[in-house]
Amino acid sequence: MKSIAPTGMLFYFIFFITCCTGISAQNKSEREQTLIDQDWRFSFGHSYDTQKDFGHAEGYFSYLTKTGFGDGPAAPGFDDRAWRKLDLPHDWAVEQSFSEKASYSHGFKTAGKGFPEKSIGWYRKKINIPAADNGKIITLKFDGVFRNSKVFFNGYFLGTEESGYNGFEYDVTAYVNYGGENTIVVRVDASMEEGWFYEGAGIYRHVYLQKTNPVHVALNGTYVTSEIKNNYALITAAIAIENKGNDKGSIEIVQTVFDAEGKLAASITENEAVPDFYKTAKYTSKLEVKKPLLWDIDSPNLYRLLTQIKKDGKIIDQYETSFGIRTMSFDAAKGFFLNGKPVKLKGTNNHQDHAGIGTALPDELQYYRIKKLKEMGSNAYRCSHHPPTPELLEACDKLGMLVIDETRLMGINDYHLNDLKRMIERDRNHPSIFCWSVGNEEWNIEGGIVGERITNVMQGFTKSIDSTRPVTVGISSGFKSGISSVVEIMGYNYLGNGDIDAHRNQFKKQPGMGTEEGSTFATRGIYFTDDAKHYQSAYDKKPRPSFYSIEEGWKFYAERPYLAGMFIWTGFDYRGEPTPYGWPSVTSYFGMMDGCGFPKDNVFYLKSWWGNEPVLHIMPHWNWSGMEGKEIDVWVHSNCDEVELFLNKKNLGKKKMQQNSHLEWKVKYEVGTLEAIGYKNGKKILTEIQKTTGNPETIKLSVDKENPANTNVSVITVEVTDKKGLHVPTANDEITFAIKGGKILGVGNGNPTSLENDTFIDDLNLVSITNFQEQKLASPNLPEKLPEFSENDWSTAFKERDYKKQAPAYVYRGEFDLKNNANTAIVNFFYKKIGVEANVFINGNKVQPSAEDAQKYLLDAAILKEGKNTIYIAVTPLQKVKDWDVMNTDPGIIQVITPSAPWKRKLFNGYAQIIIQKDKKETEVVLSATAKGLRSAALVVK
Ligand code: GAL
Repeated sequence: MKSIAPTGMLFYFIFFITCCTGISAQNKSEREQTLIDQDWRFSFGHSYDTQKDFGHAEGYFSYLTKTGFGDGPAAPGFDDRAWRKLDLPHDWAVEQSFSEKASYSHGFKTAGKGFPEKSIGWYRKKINIPAADNGKIITLKFDGVFRNSKVFFNGYFLGTEESGYNGFEYDVTAYVNYGGENTIVVRVDASMEEGWFYEGAGIYRHVYLQKTNPVHVALNGTYVTSEIKNNYALITAAIAIENKGNDKGSIEIVQTVFDAEGKLAASITENEAVPDFYKTAKYTSKLEVKKPLLWDIDSPNLYRLLTQIKKDGKIIDQYETSFGIRTMSFDAAKGFFLNGKPVKLKGTNNHQDHAGIGTALPDELQYYRIKKLKEMGSNAYRCSHHPPTPELLEACDKLGMLVIDETRLMGINDYHLNDLKRMIERDRNHPSIFCWSVGNEEWNIEGGIVGERITNVMQGFTKSIDSTRPVTVGISSGFKSGISSVVEIMGYNYLGNGDIDAHRNQFKKQPGMGTEEGSTFATRGIYFTDDAKHYQSAYDKKPRPSFYSIEEGWKFYAERPYLAGMFIWTGFDYRGEPTPYGWPSVTSYFGMMDGCGFPKDNVFYLKSWWGNEPVLHIMPHWNWSGMEGKEIDVWVHSNCDEVELFLNKKNLGKKKMQQNSHLEWKVKYEVGTLEAIGYKNGKKILTEIQKTTGNPETIKLSVDKENPANTNVSVITVEVTDKKGLHVPTANDEITFAIKGGKILGVGNGNPTSLENDTFIDDLNLVSITNFQEQKLASPNLPEKLPEFSENDWSTAFKERDYKKQAPAYVYRGEFDLKNNANTAIVNFFYKKIGVEANVFINGNKVQPSAEDAQKYLLDAAILKEGKNTIYIAVTPLQKVKDWDVMNTDPGIIQVITPSAPWKRKLFNGYAQIIIQKDKKETEVVLSATAKGLRSAALVVK
């Protein structure tokens, strides 16, 4: 039974001091969560050639046969010295080139489906776990791996996670080598796709090592909800405590709420019984927060719940939960309400990839992207069509962006419901999430009884985990029957897909919103559609007969109070779905912004009608050499009452702006300045110009205005200016980059048809030693020079070796092939011990081991040849101690590193983007940019 202790003043005082000063009296090591993204080894395996998959799962006893029998790279002793070193997050798909044969959905990157040699990725990492951790519960936590991952720890198989989007974790306590080295191995299989959009490949989200006491807050084990009363908020803190040990007796649960400034807002202590061995128990506490500061889009106030578990007066676990206090509701007649006030949802759908870096976004990029959307006036984000990384939700919580969190696949079985459950339990404390989505455009079922049944189950199941939010589904094929008739919040995917008003008249009590609208096409900076070049003009037009322009879509939703709002397909362009084209277009055209976040002109339409700032934007640019005298469509996006347009001071007329609309002029092109003046209440409030520029002269680098502050990652805008310093909107120069004090993560330019590299990384190839043969040597003195060996005496190495009667020494001979890279590449031989002493000869030359590693040989280009090379290894043999000792017969591997070309990218219609990361040790990073015929630039980022 629980008993509640009154919280005394002294307690408040201690908390105030410890939490506000940052001096913590508690032992932080009671729960440790360490990011282990750094220093992994990576290599491709193979989806069906087991030899190329390092012989994994080939063992007579393998990992499913006997516990701890992870074989190939899964074995702890596997030699991965020749593998590539990298830090997570990592997306190997974005690093690949493009091919017409590759997947349309995945942006034609030559990885995954159809590329067996680029569909399996192996990751290995070693970590030390001190002896003092014996007795703790040690857990590996993955935020998301694309996809179908198997994880091994010290050779022990931990499990398979099919989903490319769920977070998952493994308790490794029983397998740890305390006081020594431990090996984490992940085999990722991206040969199958889950989406019809780019999904990346690899460990593209964070990995953590967690240590707790046996009695601890369970994974995602807190659930904080609030009810707003007169002058206070009643907080319900439900927590799940797990006992993975033999502790018995009672615990104290101390729940303390702090406001955003770290001030104590409420606290309560309760006495409870410890759950039984391997059981999880739930406890609920109520706290009152006086005069709560509500979480809102404009003021995203957050609170923090600190949960402490005490045993015998000592803190044995502490766990923090960020949450917000707010109310939300849908009204079938009036739309969506946040804290009692109506809020029209001005949303976008988005996938998770970004130019240059694919799905491996550093956390800073999440903030960058959400800020870009807010800057456009957007207040809502739909995670289409899968759970996002936790940092995206953190960014939405902190910046004030409402979120629809969506599960990947509809269904009522473990595969589906378990994914849904894990998403909700992980995400339900985020104040930004206002709705769960349990599906999207399930054409096979959405209009019929199966869809209805599945929705009923998924909806009820969702409510059983979080009763505070409604459920939606994005529906596309008619809005009458099936899912539409039972889903709590109707999700209309596109006006053209059915009669929304008719549905509303039939289901008057069902709130609704446009979960998808738009799917318009535009190429940034392009104003004439050119199908041969795969260019789509950026004027907001109806894209296809049954689809509507952004303006048509927004007018429809804005005029209907019963519709809570709409979500544009999409905020940003993404890889894959290059509708209306195909190869060689590799990214979508749907975004309001391109894949880098550079605005297309529709951004200014939305800013005008979604945002709160005065807007005046003229399109197109005014560089139309060769079109003198021809009529050009000039559009103005603005929220001014009236706009007047001038060309070279000649008045082209003043026009009145209609609500949610834009203005148009036909203007005969002449070189010069197009000027717009915006009026509000008859007064000039804004002026905007588009000016014909000169030729590109100077490169300009700048940190993007939306770059997150005080971080190591910077998003850099690359452009060129003419001699007067004007941005040249038509520039397509190729820029080459160099960096000091950090590294480049990726380059992009928003061109859907660009097949340029996104990354420039050294190419690392592992070349096997083949045709491995042996001869006996008569003396244990190893030769310093190779004698002539009789050709007839070679036999297959190690075949029928009698370990009891070994020769005094052996010489082995093998071959390896170098293709067009003997002179340019760095070639290393990673020797694996096949003898006690060894002398190694390459093409007849004796080579010396390196200073750093006695079993690594750096092979000088001067002794290497194109094509076949010969290796001789003379050794005194290893002896078996026990008969059953398994002896190594693998001589090692040749590593060939071909250094990458310098980083470069063409500007596309005036812009490119480069994402850089400062080394933590450095105080500044210097990016320099050069191009033929242009003045170079250097940018210092502190
Ligand atoms: C929708 C779908 C989206 C995207 C979009 C493109 O049907 O839900 O994921 O494919 O079409 O127009």
